[in-house]
Amino acid sequence: MLVGADPTALLLDGGLGSAVGVLGIVLMVVGHLVTRRLIRAATADGDVVDEALVLDLAASALSAGASVPGVLTALGQALEEESAGVVGRALLLADGADGDFPAAYDALVLRRECREPLQHIIGRMWLRGAELISRPGVFIVRPETEVVAGAAIEAAREVMAGGGGVVLTADLCTGSGAIAACLAKEVPGARVVAVEISETAASLARENCERLVPGRVEVIHADATDPLVLHDLNGQVDVVVSNPPYVPAGAVEDTETAQHEPTVALYGGGPDGLDIPVDVLVRSVALLRTGGVLVMEHDHEQGALLRAAALGAGFKQAETGQDLTGRDRYLRAVR
Ligand SMILES: C[S@@+](CC[C@H](N)C(=O)[O-])C[C@H]1O[C@@H](n2cnc3c(N)ncnc32)[C@H](O)[C@@H]1O
Repeated sequence: MLVGADPTALLLDGGLGSAVGVLGIVLMVVGHLVTRRLIRAATADGDVVDEALVLDLAASALSAGASVPGVLTALGQALEEESAGVVGRALLLADGADGDFPAAYDALVLRRECREPLQHIIGRMWLRGAELISRPGVFIVRPETEVVAGAAIEAAREVMAGGGGVVLTADLCTGSGAIAACLAKEVPGARVVAVEISETAASLARENCERLVPGRVEVIHADATDPLVLHDLNGQVDVVVSNPPYVPAGAVEDTETAQHEPTVALYGGGPDGLDIPVDVLVRSVALLRTGGVLVMEHDHEQGALLRAAALGAGFKQAETGQDLTGRDRYLRAVR
C-alpha cells in the first residue's frame, strides 16, 4: 500500500527541481484542469488511494522544493511500485483528457516556471470577487487595490445614502477597468466614467465592463490628466478613484512586474514617482463638487507627500488609508 510511505522522500527522489512557487499552478490545475473525482490510483489489492492523500503528497513535495513535473512523475512511479502486480494501473490524473493533455500541461507549467504571471497564463484575474479578463500588455490588478476600490465604493454609497439618486464617479487610469467594474457592480446607482491612456488597456476595460456590468461604464481612451478630458463634468463628480502609475524612477520591481507589466502602468514620473499622481490630484480638484471625495492609491512611502499635495491643491481634508498588511496605501481627500 502507498499509505505509510514517506511521500516527501519518494517524491524528492523521483524528480528534483526548485519550484515551491508553483504551488499555485498545482492548485489551479487541481481545481480547474484535473477533475477531483478522477484522481484515483488502484493498488495491488484493489484499494483506491484517496484523492486527498494524493494532493497531500504533492503539497508536501512542493513545499520541500520538488518541481511540478518531478512531483507528477514521482507520484506515478511511487504508485506503480506500490501496486506491483497490477500491470498498467498508473495514476490517473485527468481521465477523459486527450493525448495532447500532458504536453499542453507541461507547456503551461514551463511558462509559469519562467515567471510568466499566472493571470496571463489562465487569462483571468479577480478584484473584490469580480472575475476579469487578464491580457498581456494590461496591468494585472493587485490585492492592495481591494481596499482602495473599497474606500471609493464606501464613499459612493454614502452619497447614495445621503439621498442622491445617482452618484457620479470617475476612475482615472482605469487599466483593465477592474475598479470601475466593481464600483458599478457594488453601487447600483453609480454612473461610472473611466479614463485610460493605453489603447490596449482601454479596449480591455470596455470588454471587462461590458461583460460584468453591461451599459454601466463609459470607457474613454485619453490622458486623464488633460484638463480638456471630461471637462463637461467639472465640479459635478461625487467620487474620483484612481490607481495611477506611482513607482519612483529606478525602483527595482520584482521580475514578474518588470518583465510583464507595461512601463506606462508603473512609473509615475520624477524621482519620487509622483508626477502623474499629483497631476491626477490636480485634475480631481477640478472634477469634484464641493464635498466630493478622491481616493487614490500610492506607494507605501508616499502618504505624507500626497496629503500635503492634496491640501496645497485645494482639498479641505486629506488622510491616508492602509492596505491589508497595515501599510500606507491610499489618499482619501475631501474637496
Ligand atoms: C497601476 S495601473 C492601474 C490600473 C488599474 N486602475 C488597476 O488598479 O488595476 C495604471 C494605469 O494607468 C494608465 N495610465 C498611465 N498614465 C495615464 C494617464 N496620463 N491617463 C490615463 N491613464 C494613464 C496605465 O496605462 C495603466 O493602465
